[in-house]
Amino acid sequence: MIGIFDSGVGGLSVMKELITTLPDYQITYFGDTARVPYGNKSKETVTRYALEDANFLIKKGAKLIVVACSTATALALDTLTKKLDIPVIGVAEPSIKAAIEATRNNKIGVIGTKGTIGSKIYQKLAKKINPKVKIYPQSCPLLVPLVEENWIKKPETRRILKKYLRPLKTAQVDTLILGCTHYPLLEKTIQEIAGKRITLISPGKETAKAVQKLIDNNSDLRKSLKKKKKYRFYASDTSGEFKQIGNRFLGRRIGKLAKANVENL
Ligand code: DGL
Repeated sequence: MIGIFDSGVGGLSVMKELITTLPDYQITYFGDTARVPYGNKSKETVTRYALEDANFLIKKGAKLIVVACSTATALALDTLTKKLDIPVIGVAEPSIKAAIEATRNNKIGVIGTKGTIGSKIYQKLAKKINPKVKIYPQSCPLLVPLVEENWIKKPETRRILKKYLRPLKTAQVDTLILGCTHYPLLEKTIQEIAGKRITLISPGKETAKAVQKLIDNNSDLRKSLKKKKKYRFYASDTSGEFKQIGNRFLGRRIGKLAKANVENL
């Protein structure tokens, strides 16, 4: 089974793309709703949480871990890769690779949580792949709650987005990475504000392609993953509106939601 986790409900936007790209595989989702958000927490805390999240999925039978959360990818992917003995894929590398392929003027904007932007993960990755590329980062801490409240089409959200995107437009980026699980839900408004000339990169889509490539190139891994259309959902706190909000992120109805106990790991 493919295990995928996020700080909460947002990673379902990545799972949606995984299902579209790899419809035949069994996927188990875990959302750490008891400890969300990760976006404003330290590297130490996010790393500890991410290890527990991944271990929970491994105990459930995961043979491959997808870190759907941009913040967890930025702050904890290195440690996860070192400490776990199964493959781990994050959302940052597939996104930066796609952005570098798309850019014509080598100016790439990235929006994300404070944790993601503060980590400078995109600058580090870009430097390795193409040092000519310049990254223009912008943290957008207000967007996660607005998306969860479904304020997608509200004028207030548009105004906030305009303010966040202004410096990137001034810098004339031609490519923009939507570096957070929640931002693909704002894609239409972001495209309208950014303008047609800016190419938007959605981490979910790029990560799903990277997962497919990994599975195609690794027959042992392919054999270990169950080819069965079965999706399971766990959350560390099941009292909130996980299903209601999650249905929008996943683009389909979430079936049963089970409570996960990560503290014991
Ligand atoms: N899932 C987080 C991310 O993609 C956003 C929510 C949070 O701050 O935990 O960065």
